Amino acid sequence: MQQKSNLLNLIYQYRDEICHLNQMKILSVSPFEKNHYIDKIEERTTLFIKQLEEVVNEEETETSEPGEPLEFTLEELAAFDGTSGNPAYVAVNGIVYDMGDVAAWSGGRHFGLNAGRDLTQQFTTCHQGVTTRLETLPIVGRVSGTVNKL
Ligand code: HEM
Repeated sequence: MQQKSNLLNLIYQYRDEICHLNQMKILSVSPFEKNHYIDKIEERTTLFIKQLEEVVNEEETETSEPGEPLEFTLEELAAFDGTSGNPAYVAVNGIVYDMGDVAAWSGGRHFGLNAGRDLTQQFTTCHQGVTTRLETLPIVGRVSGTVNKL
């Protein structure tokens, strides 16, 4: 899922740079200076779109290959916390589940717990590890290093 975090990094980087250029444009005293920043914003936006296309094309190539389940490190899983429009994924016994359609997990929150983490221990404590609750959930992949047969 490296692409997803690349995508997020690209978006945050673009946002920060455009905010800065916009401020410079607003603070500009001469029309020449203002046009300079307008050009810069346009240039940066063109580059951003090109970068997005590259990541999406890469992503399509990866997801179009059937077979191997997706692998998440715990750091990568943390990006899927169900906030700011991100999907809500939770790992239990090394399997990564999509909680997007579970009402009890709306916004990536569930009884004080946040999505984007390995919650095996909490699941055992709170649901006695009864995985029937999870059987209807979409499986997204597994936590890297775990050997679960998906
Ligand atoms: C603090 C620990 C937890 C507590 C107190 C708790 C409590 C509950 C309760 C009361 C419900 C029923 C909610 C409803 O129907 O509106 C529920 C549903 C659910 N819980 Fe938890 N839970 C906890 C942790 C977890 C963890 C770690 C998972 C991991 C995946 C999980 C997965 C689910 C799922 C998938 C449902 C919906 C199941 C269904 O509707 O059939 N819960 N939980």
